[in-house]
Amino acid sequence: MANVTLRNVRKAYPNGFEAIKGVDVDVADGQFCVLVGPSGCGKSTLLRMVAGLETISSGEIDIGGRIVNQVEPAERDIAMVFQNYALYPHMSVYNNMAYGLRNRRMPQPEIDTRVQEAARILELGAMLDRKPGQLSGGQRQRVAMGRAIVRQPKVFLFDEPLSNLDAKLRIAMRVEIRKLQRRLNTTSIYVTHDQLEAMTLADILVVMNGGQVEQVGNPLDIYQKPATTFVASFIGAPPMNLMPLSADELKSQLAGDSRINDAGILGIRPEDFVVSNETVAGGIALGLTVEAIERVGAETFIYGTRERDVQGVAANPGELPPGEVLVRIPGAIGPAIGERIRAIAAPDKLHLFTADGRQRVGP
Ligand SMILES: Nc1ncnc2c1ncn2[C@@H]1O[C@H](COP(=O)(O)OP(=O)(O)O)[C@@H](O)[C@H]1O
Ligand SMILES: [Mg+2]
Repeated sequence: MANVTLRNVRKAYPNGFEAIKGVDVDVADGQFCVLVGPSGCGKSTLLRMVAGLETISSGEIDIGGRIVNQVEPAERDIAMVFQNYALYPHMSVYNNMAYGLRNRRMPQPEIDTRVQEAARILELGAMLDRKPGQLSGGQRQRVAMGRAIVRQPKVFLFDEPLSNLDAKLRIAMRVEIRKLQRRLNTTSIYVTHDQLEAMTLADILVVMNGGQVEQVGNPLDIYQKPATTFVASFIGAPPMNLMPLSADELKSQLAGDSRINDAGILGIRPEDFVVSNETVAGGIALGLTVEAIERVGAETFIYGTRERDVQGVAANPGELPPGEVLVRIPGAIGPAIGERIRAIAAPDKLHLFTADGRQRVGP
């Protein structure tokens, strides 16, 4: 077991592109750390640097108290599971798992003990003689994990290991991976672009954007207090509504809020609205015209347009078009298209950010 620490790690590829622009991450012994961010933000680059598959332009990587910048991948005591897990098609499940250990000249009895134990944990015991072609996608993914487990590494590295599976299997495997990691208690770094996967797996969540860390923390803390508008719209689905405050009637509703002087953007999560005609002390009330409704059974999504948008307001920095607001309410009821509703949010549901979106204002 081991901690993993990255200190001011940078990566410029030979073509000059700076993929990682100074990243600090601390993963404690036994923790499950998830790196999440959009495609191209540098997640794989960072993970491959931890694995030793990619050189580091500057900074330090420490695994278990040892700086590994110059240490060969095979000597780092890590095991990696990729999206394309490429099992050997002509080898049995048993031999796929045993292969790496044989290469290390481990005695056969020890190999057998480890493979049998991994097969038991992963419920592959009945399939050890099969070839990968005779397995389902989920079973193949479990063999790939078995190959990592038998190594008994200090650190597991996962790069989008579930991306090739269908949605249902992905959820099942997500739960499996979490249970497995709790049981083995091995320090893990897991890369994904899927915010839900990230939220549900992570002890510590690292949100990345453009080669930099936007925010690090416990997943629920990040959901509740996103540090930037990027994090606000990336974590949580559907994303937070982000509304510019400049020259806007929203600002007058917030006149009593001490944060207002420094704020340029108001954020409200779709699930934090209540549709009601009541008045709220200190909160926000939006008059909306209902444009579209999605009923998914357990909940209803209401797409509304703000009635009193002031001309000349800057474009909404979130994913919704200017003036559009998404409200998410439980149940299958809800208004009709064309109806006018009032969506209200309590003061503690309001997120405020600086006008450039780079900083959260207030608690
Ligand atoms: N060998 C390379 N040479 C130059 N640029 C690269 C190389 N590999 C990746 N990149 C670039 O670095 C950025 C980060 O890539 P990557 O780490 O694969 O992102 P992610 O895994 O988050 O999708 C991307 O813009 C990608 O195009
Ligand atoms: Mg990647």
